[in-house]
Amino acid sequence: MDRISIIGGQELHGTIPISGAKNAALPLMIASLLTDETLSLVNMPNLADVELLTRILGNHGVDYSVNGRREEQGVLYPRTYNFHASSIVDTTAPYELVSKMRASFWVIGPLLARCGEARVSLPGGCAIGTRPVDLFIEGLRALGAEIEIDRGYAKARAPKGLIGNRYVFPKVSVGATHVLMMAASLAKGETVLENAAREPEIVNLADCLNAMGARVSGAGTSTIAIEGVASLSGTTHEIIPDRIETGTYAMAVAMTGGDVLLEGARPELLQSALDTLAQTGVEIIPVNSGIRVRRNGAGISAVDITTEPFPGFPTDLQAQFMGLMTRAKGRSRITENIFENRFMHVQELARLGARIQLSGQTAVVDGVETLHGAEVMATDLRASVSLVIAGLAAEGETVVHRVYHLDRGFERLEEKLSGCGATIRRLSS
Ligand code: UD1
Repeated sequence: MDRISIIGGQELHGTIPISGAKNAALPLMIASLLTDETLSLVNMPNLADVELLTRILGNHGVDYSVNGRREEQGVLYPRTYNFHASSIVDTTAPYELVSKMRASFWVIGPLLARCGEARVSLPGGCAIGTRPVDLFIEGLRALGAEIEIDRGYAKARAPKGLIGNRYVFPKVSVGATHVLMMAASLAKGETVLENAAREPEIVNLADCLNAMGARVSGAGTSTIAIEGVASLSGTTHEIIPDRIETGTYAMAVAMTGGDVLLEGARPELLQSALDTLAQTGVEIIPVNSGIRVRRNGAGISAVDITTEPFPGFPTDLQAQFMGLMTRAKGRSRITENIFENRFMHVQELARLGARIQLSGQTAVVDGVETLHGAEVMATDLRASVSLVIAGLAAEGETVVHRVYHLDRGFERLEEKLSGCGATIRRLSS
């Protein structure tokens, strides 16, 4: 298993190109199930999760090809993937595949809408809490689907097609909003989704669906209206830049000091996180080509955060922000409101010398002058990158084990950071 070694203490200076957003790419790829024409997605990130989802979609009959303008180390950039599901050959998503990536459960919506049936394994437990799928099931039932849970599978049928309806989400869910938006695009009549997620990735999917011939309005607000159409066509669509990758590198610069251009980043995709970072003493400068992040010798101020659905502070940046706060001047309180049990990084940060007390859904962090390199374990995608951020500022060597978690969501992480002066390398076993 690969590890990542970091020798802390270097400032970051230079340019980091921001990749296409993983969390936009995954639902967009799944949208290819809705049409028998080609869906081309531009600016696809090169990530383990993308590779896994191409395999899962392949199982249902989606072919794909990749092209790009230039090749670096055998990989094409910027990458365009062409997905083509001329026919759906299998409407079952088996446990072996769904259990590896939770978002693959989302195929239930397009399969049901296009084929009138789907049998999708329940995703099972997950490192960051129980993460149920009740909202997907309840929402699809509201569109007329018959769904039973049988031996670990959701078996869904809509023999006469889905029928538009009003559905009020009892809780904001990104995934369930994606799925109901896709399913309702091919339903009969109008669907209105209330208390829908407002994340930029929802807007990116709605734009793509509309380019495919769907009639979706209101995406980005909490009420989304979808007028169903009989069929959808192919299109070419661009994936938005990754706001979580953007925020992660901004926090890395905040941690080490320095001056970095996050090329291609868009401030409006993560304004609340950038505002919070500015309060810690970092300069955030929007420029034409992206966002410039700069911190000089001044220390890091402690700031409290609470994670919330968009446009609030994203849960996917909580661990990284905690990494930063471990070296802040004073005490900060970090409250996790989206997922239970999303504090696995606390114990690992403590191995580097961080002082963190957990009290329910809140972590109280007392900043320390110095962190000390140590061996640490990545436990999930965002937790693992918080260890990298801490390692960049720790004295001596930090070795992060189980980096496959990082490879799921961060494209060429060590290359991007070493390009800005960090001493970071992958140790292959
Ligand atoms: C997506 C993101 C993930 C991010 C999360 C919250 C992708 C691929 N993943 O995950 O990176 O951390 O949004 O911004 O885009 N819930 C239920 N029942 C359901 C569905 C969800 O109770 O049927 C709960 C979850 O357990 C959680 C909350 O709702 O507590 C929000 O989850 P949700 O927004 O659905 O997260 P994902 O879409 O899985």
